[in-house]
Amino acid sequence: MIVYYNGSYVEKKQICISPDDRGFLFGDGTYEVIRVYHNRIFRLDNHLQRLTRSLREIKINHMDVSFLRETGETLIQKNPDIAENAVMYVQITRGVAPRHHEFPEQIQPTVYAALSKCPVERDQIARGVKIILQPDQRWGRCDIKSIALLPNILAAEEARKQNAYEAVFVRDRIITEGTRTNIAAVFNGKIHTHPIGHHILGGITRDVMIELCHQMAIPVIEKPISEEQILLADEIFIMGTTTEIGPVIQVNEMKIGDGNTGPVTRQLQEAFHTLIDDPHQY
Ligand code: PDD
Repeated sequence: MIVYYNGSYVEKKQICISPDDRGFLFGDGTYEVIRVYHNRIFRLDNHLQRLTRSLREIKINHMDVSFLRETGETLIQKNPDIAENAVMYVQITRGVAPRHHEFPEQIQPTVYAALSKCPVERDQIARGVKIILQPDQRWGRCDIKSIALLPNILAAEEARKQNAYEAVFVRDRIITEGTRTNIAAVFNGKIHTHPIGHHILGGITRDVMIELCHQMAIPVIEKPISEEQILLADEIFIMGTTTEIGPVIQVNEMKIGDGNTGPVTRQLQEAFHTLIDDPHQY
């Protein structure tokens, strides 16, 4: 497996990361997970814009990430066996320095990028999944794609233990988002989803979903959903780079709707699949 590390393409097993890297010591960094379909990088510009924003918010300043387009193309060329359906992982940390909380002076960010096979099979979620609700124990800036993901990991592990595909966070009785997905619910043909702000990550898949809804004249209301309300939804779905549009048919032990994928979710799933098969959409 050939990966990118600080300007070079190398075998993954040859990389040595310093124990003084601030990503390792503090979780001081940011990342992106970008989908590769049919050897093409999906919505790369949007991911690079979000990465630029995350870098700015964590004050890794003056970093132009546009070189990652070429990096992605090169990784696809060098790893042709997986580039049909893969994810490109990009991580940027503040860099290597003796351990002090304050930013070190004159530090070079560490940049890593690699492709791997997409960890989720479409069939795994196509028929609908169970989610569980978990308290949102994350910080106040969930809009920054921080590599420090302990609350997400603990909640995802709890979901696995309860045979659920995803854990969805609840903060002050409001449904925010999943550990690696955004969430939406359908009430009377209208889609409700948490508004953009500090309590959720602005998902690229969420943006695509809203774009598709505009095209199909499905109303989208960006307004919080309470934990009581969501159980009364006609349909629920989660969305993310690896999950795509994933129908939710069970929340904790409660069935949603009639326990099958609902018509609005199905329509969106189909529109999403058509979009990613269209080379002009990249
Ligand atoms: N996660 N919310 C959170 C907390 C996420 O971590 C993600 C993505 C999303 C969905 O965003 P997008 O549609 O841009 O993938 C929402 C990635 C896939 C991950 O951490 O693996």
